[in-house]
Amino acid sequence: MAQYDVIVIGAGPGGYVAAIRCAQLGLKTACVEGRETLGGTCLNVGCIPSKALLHASHQLHEAEHNFAAMGLKGKAPTVDWKQMLSYKDDVIGQNTKGIEFLFKKNKIDWIKGWASIPEAGKVKVGDETHDAKNIIIASGSVPASVPGADVEIDEKVVVTSTGALELPKVPKKMIVIGAGVIGLEMGSVYARLGAEVEVIEYLDAITPGMDAEVQRSLQKLLSKQGLKFTLGAAVSKVETKGGKATVTYKLRKDDSEQSAEADVVLVATGRKPYTDGLGLDALGIATTDRGQIKTDGHWQTSVKGIYAIGDAITGPMLAHKAEDEGMACAEVIAGKHGHVNYGVIPGVIYTWPEVASVGATEQELKNEGRAYKVGKFSFMGNGRAKAVFAGEGFVKILADKETDRILGCHIIGPSAGDLIHEVCVAMEYGGSAEDLALTCHAHPTFSEAVREAALACGDGPIHS
Ligand code: NAI
Repeated sequence: MAQYDVIVIGAGPGGYVAAIRCAQLGLKTACVEGRETLGGTCLNVGCIPSKALLHASHQLHEAEHNFAAMGLKGKAPTVDWKQMLSYKDDVIGQNTKGIEFLFKKNKIDWIKGWASIPEAGKVKVGDETHDAKNIIIASGSVPASVPGADVEIDEKVVVTSTGALELPKVPKKMIVIGAGVIGLEMGSVYARLGAEVEVIEYLDAITPGMDAEVQRSLQKLLSKQGLKFTLGAAVSKVETKGGKATVTYKLRKDDSEQSAEADVVLVATGRKPYTDGLGLDALGIATTDRGQIKTDGHWQTSVKGIYAIGDAITGPMLAHKAEDEGMACAEVIAGKHGHVNYGVIPGVIYTWPEVASVGATEQELKNEGRAYKVGKFSFMGNGRAKAVFAGEGFVKILADKETDRILGCHIIGPSAGDLIHEVCVAMEYGGSAEDLALTCHAHPTFSEAVREAALACGDGPIHS
């Protein structure tokens, strides 16, 4: 039985990052993971594989829609779905093996199996119990089913994001329940590959919590790409018969019950913390009514020496939020000053165009009663974007009316997920829109649109 300074439970982006930082800070570290490969949901069945399929299907979209205009003639490629899945699996393999390499490099023991915590200071895996001065729970989350509805997920006809990454073929018709991040990303993939995709969403707008202008713009652009949206519709039942599924839903506007049939139904109505088998109740670890582990400002649970991070605790279920908590928690355990600035956590949706946001939305600022100004710039005024058929969308910067301090930024457009980060850095430094506006941005880049939006908070943009 080994004695560790830290045992991390779970090797997703929260857990593996926490383990690496603990080891770098001189702590003897092990990480327990029951999957065959490291990397958790993100690397195995989430962020990374979906990005591979988004990339491949976007190339097809480019070939079908823009190649001819650029003078690239010839037949558009056809889809070899088996090969596309094998490309995706190869991407997963490269990434998960990379984490294995980092574990070896940092001398982190990978304890293979599923962990439980019989008492503080002990982690049980199989028949072995290991001692650990500190335990970090980074057990992540699993898909939640449709709340209050009668739905049986078989991962064949009725699938979660996991099953959606390995369908035997591209379905003719797919219904997506939930217009959140997963629904729109995977819906985009299959729409580009030729499926008829209908998204059924409970609320009256897509992507809950996002800036309303971005929501409307994204819905318009995705509709143009062939996705059909049924909003204000509460799904109550999904029945399968003869390899097809029927989705029953109620339209809120007139209370009418409707139904629709599809070859595949993707349930994308959120995720819930995964803490099964850890023994939280017996330990007396406090949780919220949604099953999230409660932690203090240093990620310590209600039991001393047991910490928790990532999707298993409160806050947005994002890989990068988990990573930041993993690093900070490791630093706290090592006696340093770990910190996460929850006010500056970007969110990205990898549709085409991408959507990215950080900080407050206009709605939130209005609710707060805060005086703010808006600087907006359309990608139509950005030369680079126009050159690559990406002139749709905009950058919107929200700044304090008095001080000019940046309060939020919302982008829909090319490389939005990368562009957002200069705004994040500016916000970390308490920067103003003028700070961004005075920074020289290389021409021709998409980033000039960010600068122009910052200029729009002051004396005005140049190219609009
Ligand atoms: P989500 O919470 O983003 O969206 C779920 C949607 O389902 C909501 O719009 C909700 O109103 C709707 N819904 C709930 N019940 C319904 C019903 N009965 N009928 C119709 N619609 C209903 O959840 P999603 O997309 O499943 O993602 C789960 C988590 O994973 C999120 O926290 C997300 O941030 C994260 N994620 C992040 C990604 C990224 O950063 N790019 C990619 C994939 C997932």
